[in-house]
Amino acid sequence: MKVGVLGSGSVAQTLVAGFVKYGHQTMIGTRDKAKLADWLKANPTAQVGSFSDTAAFGEALVLAVKGSAAADVLRAAGTANLAAKVVMDACNPIADAPPVNGVLKFFTTLDDSLMEQLQKEFPTAHFVKAFNSVGASRMVNPEFKAGRPTMFICGNDDGAKAITAQILEQFGWETADMGKVEAARAIEPLCMLWCTLGFTKNEWTHAFKLLHQ
Ligand SMILES: NC(=O)c1ccc[n+]([C@@H]2O[C@H](COP(=O)([O-])OP(=O)(O)OC[C@H]3O[C@@H](n4cnc5c(N)ncnc54)[C@H](OP(=O)(O)O)[C@@H]3O)[C@@H](O)[C@H]2O)c1
Repeated sequence: MKVGVLGSGSVAQTLVAGFVKYGHQTMIGTRDKAKLADWLKANPTAQVGSFSDTAAFGEALVLAVKGSAAADVLRAAGTANLAAKVVMDACNPIADAPPVNGVLKFFTTLDDSLMEQLQKEFPTAHFVKAFNSVGASRMVNPEFKAGRPTMFICGNDDGAKAITAQILEQFGWETADMGKVEAARAIEPLCMLWCTLGFTKNEWTHAFKLLHQ
């Protein structure tokens, strides 16, 4: 599969490495290609492009940018380049404010989510929330004594969720499909819970697992 990863931070770089590991063709998207020159030397099979180049390249897309910039990045990517494609959305709506006793502040409310805002503005894209509630270093084939951790996903398009679940299977995760786009109201705050353990106990290597009876 050709995968376009919108974003150049630690999440984007980790996921690109994962896609390359499993034989996918990948392009990483940024406003500033020059800053990825050294990264490209170390990852010669990946390509670097603008947000628009990357969205046009990908049959499947990943959105891994600062939450408050996500809509701007998708506008730069171009609505036509998103149409009918899965967009695996790793973004969290973290506000530009310090955490309170280890609890991050969001710029959304519990009755809205970043992914719903994006789905409304880009209705032809098939957004799937994924990869938002674990640290970047544990996104691809994490090793835990308790076995595979759970990635909570949601989105309106079943085909897009099936593609995401296939990728998650390759990356060593079990998938819990929590439903339509509104479930992002519950999945995005898992990032707050995940980070609270980091800020209060300096533990950054955990992941969530859903236990069934
Ligand atoms: N870090 C983690 O462990 C982790 C884990 C789970 C989820 N997340 C979420 O994943 C997303 C990416 O996180 P990250 O830590 O990899 O990187 P980040 O530092 O949150 O974001 C970096 C990316 O955001 C883009 N960006 C920032 N401001 C922008 C603006 N004004 N206009 C356009 N683009 C802008 C940058 O574009 P350029 O390339 O052009 O500079 C870059 O690609 C975030 O939403 C984060 O909450 C992070």
